[in-house]
Amino acid sequence: MDLSVKIGNMILNNPILTASGTFGYGPEFKDYLDLDRIGGLCTKGISIEPRGGNPAPRIVETASGMLNSIGLENCGSAKFLSDVMPQIRDLKCAIIVNFYAYTEEDFVRLAEILSVDERIDALEMNLSCPNVKKGGSAFGSNPDLIEKLTKSVKSVTDKTLIVKLSPNVADITSTAAAAESGGADSISLINTLIGTAIDREKKTFLLGNKIGGLSGPAIKPVALRMVWQTAKAVKIPVIGMGGISSLEDVIDFLTVGAKAVQIGAWNFINPSIAQECVEGLEKYLKERSETLNELTGSIKE
Ligand SMILES: Cc1cc2nc3c(=O)[nH]c(=O)nc-3n(C[C@H](O)[C@H](O)[C@H](O)COP(=O)(O)O)c2cc1C
Repeated sequence: MDLSVKIGNMILNNPILTASGTFGYGPEFKDYLDLDRIGGLCTKGISIEPRGGNPAPRIVETASGMLNSIGLENCGSAKFLSDVMPQIRDLKCAIIVNFYAYTEEDFVRLAEILSVDERIDALEMNLSCPNVKKGGSAFGSNPDLIEKLTKSVKSVTDKTLIVKLSPNVADITSTAAAAESGGADSISLINTLIGTAIDREKKTFLLGNKIGGLSGPAIKPVALRMVWQTAKAVKIPVIGMGGISSLEDVIDFLTVGAKAVQIGAWNFINPSIAQECVEGLEKYLKERSETLNELTGSIKE
């Protein structure tokens, strides 16, 4: 059965991807699933220089979800290319490198650095970081900045460029439209929703960073709504994520118009979930004699 999907110049064997930050750099999961069977993996967010991340504690469990304030800890671009890429370059799945910076110049420089490796299929630009030059306001909430940044990054790379949007905005369709007019090949959403949790006896915050990103099944209805609205608002393919924990969730995101999906926090509960969803989707479509194309965007308005 053909489950392949084209996103920009990247051909995915199937629409099931793993989400950045929840799947290490890939090899960490090789004992739990066949990495060749999934559509692709998104790496932990890479920055130009290595980063240590935020103070502990960095994870709190919540009702049907989790809060994390990892703070984008990673090994940095040089080590990623020299040490990590050799471990994953022979995989049959797509390799999508999630990346972030705090200034437009650094986003552009990093895109140039990562584009040198021919095995990387796509770059996923994480816009949820504060823009230090604009006094800390997030890149991801300003449509003009998104359009300008996307244009600048796109001009230095021939990789498929996916712009990953933050849900912490008033109108997701305007940030999505900005990414599209800046030349993005695809949009992925949603990143985590900002939240907090406290210890009411000690009257302290549970996270060292006080606030963190909420993910897991708790955010699925918000994510599904935003993916549906975005898929209607733009022509480029949308990659949906947020709270996926089963084949049924995958089907829901495809039905509202996502061309592919990413599985995040649920990898911590069931590290084989991505492969199970690939096999489940094949079986589901076969039983219904439906193609992936027919399922995608089949929601009745
Ligand atoms: C521990 C953790 C680390 C994450 N790190 C990143 C990251 O480095 N870059 C990024 O764009 N998103 C990151 N995310 C967000 C996920 O990729 C995803 O957008 C979000 O968790 C929603 O999907 P989910 O509910 O399936 O987890 C992280 C999420 C978690 C839980």
